[in-house]
Amino acid sequence: MASLELEGKVVLVTGGNKGIGAEVVALLEDLGAKVAYVYRSEPGEHGSLAIQADVTSLDEMTRVVDRVEDELGPLYSVVANAGITRDSLFVKSEVDDWDEVLRTNLTGVYNTVRPVMPKLNERGEGSMVLISSVVGQQGNMGQANYAAAKAGLNGFAKTLAQEGARFNVRTNVIAPGFIETNMLAHVPDKVKEKILSTVPLGRFGKPEEIAWAAAYLVSPQASFITGAVLNINGGRYM
Ligand code: CAA
Repeated sequence: MASLELEGKVVLVTGGNKGIGAEVVALLEDLGAKVAYVYRSEPGEHGSLAIQADVTSLDEMTRVVDRVEDELGPLYSVVANAGITRDSLFVKSEVDDWDEVLRTNLTGVYNTVRPVMPKLNERGEGSMVLISSVVGQQGNMGQANYAAAKAGLNGFAKTLAQEGARFNVRTNVIAPGFIETNMLAHVPDKVKEKILSTVPLGRFGKPEEIAWAAAYLVSPQASFITGAVLNINGGRYM
């Protein structure tokens, strides 16, 4: 039977307790993977192993990776999804918000993949999926910090793709558009209407529409895809 061949594969997802991350955890589990996830505040409902940790700490993420391998087995893949917003027009912005967003959304991804990639390289297989954003490609009013971090991820991922290729380790990016999650819930209604008018498919996305792409890119079925940025945005940016 056709399958994504994820049965028994160990995958770590950051920010796996809610939003897009929770859908990724649930779907990977449905597809037979052994899924560990990191959460900061409250655990989610799916996955084999939930670990409370802060992606801004390399020490904590190193301990997370060791624990996942001890309890579930050798990692096959990581989905670096954890991210935050601290929206404000740039001229009103605070440098503390800039620092926090960069530390979580960019350095947090460094901290997530840094302990994982040497292990994948050594084993000669594996894949990493980084969740970026259409905002990293287009910018977005009120999101200078977020746009800078997400754009940074794209260059970071392409470099990892080049460095990992000789070891058969793939790195890809998903760039979601505006998806129905808590992040979007905080956007004022008048701004939501403006955003919606820029989406050719005429609606916001659903977390599961990102999760299916993440599962595919994680899986060995995507074996010839590396260094890609997959846009899932209803046509807002092509
Ligand atoms: N797109 C288009 N116009 C926007 C906008 C946006 N994203 N954000 C703000 N504007 C417009 C406002 O409509 C307003 O226009 P008018 O003066 O014509 O009414 C103008 O910019 C100034 O905005 P505010 O009056 O709201 O100014 P403020 O200082 O009170 O608040 C803000 C600014 C905090 C940025 C607020 O507008 C806001 O929260 N905007 C939404 C930001 C946003 O889009 N966040 C995305 C969250 S989803 C996500 O991040 C996930 C992802 O990857 C896509």
